[in-house]
Amino acid sequence: MIRLRLEGLTRRFGGLVAVDSVTLDVAAEGVTAVIGPNGAGKTTLFNMISGFVPPSAGRVLFEGEDITGRPPERIAARGLIRTFQLVQLFQNLSALENVAVGRHLHTRGGLWAALARPGWARREEAEVDRRARDLLAFVGLGDRAETSAAVLPYGQQRLLEIARALAAEPKLLMLDEPAAGLNAAETRALSEIIRRIAERGTTVLLIEHDMPLVMTTADTVVVLDFGRKIAEGAPAAVRADPAVIEAYLGGAEAAHA
Ligand SMILES: Nc1ncnc2c1ncn2[C@@H]1O[C@H](COP(=O)(O)OP(=O)(O)OP(=O)(O)O)[C@@H](O)[C@H]1O
Ligand SMILES: [Mg+2]
Repeated sequence: MIRLRLEGLTRRFGGLVAVDSVTLDVAAEGVTAVIGPNGAGKTTLFNMISGFVPPSAGRVLFEGEDITGRPPERIAARGLIRTFQLVQLFQNLSALENVAVGRHLHTRGGLWAALARPGWARREEAEVDRRARDLLAFVGLGDRAETSAAVLPYGQQRLLEIARALAAEPKLLMLDEPAAGLNAAETRALSEIIRRIAERGTTVLLIEHDMPLVMTTADTVVVLDFGRKIAEGAPAAVRADPAVIEAYLGGAEAAHA
């Protein structure tokens, strides 16, 4: 089953073609990673899929339904939830509150309802609380429920963002560089969590620079370079693709050398 289909998706910024006619099927099962050099168009692709940036051309089909150009909250309500490249938590709220807010933030009444908590939200509170604690435990933050987001170490803030996104019960979870700033042990834990999210039936679409994470976590890897899709396939095949080595891995390895 295809969860997400992109047809000729294109975004121009003035004379720059940030995403250039990308066509892609994302299977409902498993983890798909989008990789590519800085500026390749990965975040812009995510922004178009999630409704934050309107495409210049092309279509986004979610479970066969054309969602192109819909506002972000309607796309989120449909079950497509994304995180951002930079941490976006409510720093003054506890970990538990951040996750509980996520339940409403992406879907029903939006941010206002999430914070003002009208009657229907309050009635749901016990259930939301229980579910939020489950999600904190799921990402390994079970003992951090009452801790303010602001004082959590960076790696735990990133996990908290994932828990918050899961609170909306997404069918498709899109993560923009979730391993950025994580150490090796945190990255391995993140890989495990992403695999388990996929095993529970949520499609995961991931932007990532961390190659070990991509290679161990993704079922399918898509490579963007200058906005174009230059390769797609199993991680090992993509890693061995000369065009990819030239465009991306070669450059990254040269930079590390
Ligand atoms: N709002 C914007 N206005 C103008 N140009 C933009 C805008 N957003 C992105 N771009 C340009 O589009 C290109 C793709 O940017 P994008 O952020 O999608 O790349 P990326 O692959 O996510 O890069 P990174 O790995 O650094 O996060 C870049 O050249 C960027 O400068
Ligand atoms: Mg980006």
